Amino acid sequence: MTIADEAPAADVVAYHPVARILHWLVALLVLVVWPVGFVIEFVKDDAKPAFYLVHESFGFIILWVMLARLAVRLIRTPPPEPPMPIWQKRLAGTVHWLLYAALIAQPIAGFLATNAFGFPLDWFGLVTVWSPIGKSDLAPTLMSVHVFLGWSILVLFCLHLGGVLQHHILLRDRTLHRML
Ligand code: HEM
Repeated sequence: MTIADEAPAADVVAYHPVARILHWLVALLVLVVWPVGFVIEFVKDDAKPAFYLVHESFGFIILWVMLARLAVRLIRTPPPEPPMPIWQKRLAGTVHWLLYAALIAQPIAGFLATNAFGFPLDWFGLVTVWSPIGKSDLAPTLMSVHVFLGWSILVLFCLHLGGVLQHHILLRDRTLHRML
């Protein structure tokens, strides 16, 4: 008998509704921002400004949504996890915290790199966001950090998704239901 058989759906204690909404909002934004950032260097020159606008403007939103998520995560204790080996618990926890760190650091690195190259963020063409550093020699270093974090986020996302699928498909427990 699986845990899913033992536990009726009504027994699932889910994350706080705000935590769930912010989780799926960030997931959606990352699924747009990551690939758009990746393809910028391959698109035709006349299409680049639109790709930059989408990538940078939505990417900047991720920063604020992640800060809100962090606040909710620190204020509200997450619901209890289903039983699992201690190594899995630690791995899942580490991946979660690294995702928080990377998804906060990444938009900051991208924003500062763009500033350092001499382009203040023109958010959706509506507001020019104040540039804290202005044009600077740090631009290539900041962009290397942005590229490194971009690939790190992909690895963390795959680990996160792997864990979700393992629980949902192989173990058939209610881990995913806590976030739905
Ligand atoms: C969580 C949010 C973000 C994610 C996940 C993300 C991800 C990425 C990825 C995967 C790339 C391609 C890296 C490569 O070439 O291998 C990239 C490039 C880039 N990103 Fe971001 N990014 C985010 C936010 C931002 C923000 C807020 C800005 C600026 C305001 C920004 C500016 C840039 C720039 C200028 C590039 C270089 C594009 C090019 O010329 O090739 N990013 N980003």
